[in-house]
Amino acid sequence: MMKISINEIFNKYKILINKEISIYGWVKSNRNSKIGISFISINDGSCFKSIQVIANKDLYNYIDILKINTGYSINVIGKVIISKGEKQNIEIKSRIINILGNIYNSKEYPISSKFHSFEFLRKFPHLRPRTNIFSALSRVRNFIFNRINNFMYKNGFKWIPTPIITSIDTEGNSKLFKVSSLNIYGDEKIKYINDFFCKESFLTVSGQLNLEAYACSLSKVYSLGPVFRAENSNTTKHLSEFWMLELEAAFINLDELINLSINIIKNIYNNLIINLHEDIIFLHKKNNINSDKLFNIINSKYEIIEYKEIIKILNKNNFNIKFNENITSKYENFLLNFFKNILIIKNYPKKIKPFYMKLNDDNLTVSSMDILVPGIGELIGGSVREDRLDFILKSVKENNINLNDYNWYIDLRKYGTVPHSGFGLGFERFISFLTGIKNIKDISPFPRNINNLMF
Ligand code: 4AD
Ligand code: MG
Repeated sequence: MMKISINEIFNKYKILINKEISIYGWVKSNRNSKIGISFISINDGSCFKSIQVIANKDLYNYIDILKINTGYSINVIGKVIISKGEKQNIEIKSRIINILGNIYNSKEYPISSKFHSFEFLRKFPHLRPRTNIFSALSRVRNFIFNRINNFMYKNGFKWIPTPIITSIDTEGNSKLFKVSSLNIYGDEKIKYINDFFCKESFLTVSGQLNLEAYACSLSKVYSLGPVFRAENSNTTKHLSEFWMLELEAAFINLDELINLSINIIKNIYNNLIINLHEDIIFLHKKNNINSDKLFNIINSKYEIIEYKEIIKILNKNNFNIKFNENITSKYENFLLNFFKNILIIKNYPKKIKPFYMKLNDDNLTVSSMDILVPGIGELIGGSVREDRLDFILKSVKENNINLNDYNWYIDLRKYGTVPHSGFGLGFERFISFLTGIKNIKDISPFPRNINNLMF
């Protein structure tokens, strides 16, 4: 018996016509006609489409088949035939239907075939993959993950698994989760020296500094993994645990870094819409996204503007913002509306950026860039790295960083330092941008944010 996925049936249906196959999946709907035929729509997650199965009253367990409802798991053995219906070109005429799992109590089953809001489904992270939206999103996420790795591999970037447990605070913003093997609750006298690593340790906020060590030998490196931030912000754009694509490349400048990030965005999206067309069109429809408009935004020329020009634009539009202020979401929203395009802001003031960014000749700004995208805001943050020994030592001091923890990083500047640059792209925000699903709590399969840790 040929055990086959539904995706394979649709892809190879021409050679499968009149052949007997065996499929496994979950029932989307079961329509029983008066003349003793049931039409069962079944999906196995391998593709967007479900396949229609015809069950005739001659089947020995037809009485049980009549009871089959949304959510049942079944195995169907039958012939692939050309469909008489208009909705689909092929269907399965069943010879055997094995019921594998029923729905214990249909009335209590939260994922009935009716419409459910994102808010409602967030209460059921373990059941929501059964909806069309979350299964489409899962295939899209899987594609993007693979495509990113593929792009990096083809472009000569070497994958480096950077550590999750760390003793350093890369971004210098104290939004760190502690890691400890001690019973820290209720014991005020705990000393780090008695803890597992004999020092204070955290979940990483970024693998960038570790990547830099490898860029100083392999030239082009990247990581794609989880990072953790104890941010007290319950927004649609923040998670406490999110995934980040981080890359570091030696011998590239800010313009080359910007071009690389533009290429990644375009390459991933343009391949996504070819390969997962049905999924992506369905997601756009459900989230009121105009697919053509998004295509044009991604494939047009992006705006590249200096931070100091942005400040001028904001002030001309009655925002009272000063040099050295952060571009918060309020400003981001205005700017994205103003430009109606992907916006790259470069050369931010050194005061609002981390210690590792390369100081420009004006002594005020650093060679940096953030990429803002419509509907999301900041998607990418990156910079040229300070590669001059005396400058990095000065920056460490100015930022009140304990040099003892960063001696290894300083070594990279002492021994064969090179100009290099890198950036971080928020994986969930990227998927949110490409699919139109607005809240990244719906992008992460099991989201973690303040006051929320399910399972
Ligand atoms: O701008 P960030 O903080 O940059 C860094 O961590 C650098 N070390 C990256 C690098 O240069 N290697 O974060 C990078 C991106 C942001 O642009 C945003 O897309 C995403 O990570 N991000 C978040 N995504 C979800 N939830 C959060 N709390 C996020 N914080 C940042
Ligand atoms: Mg940033």
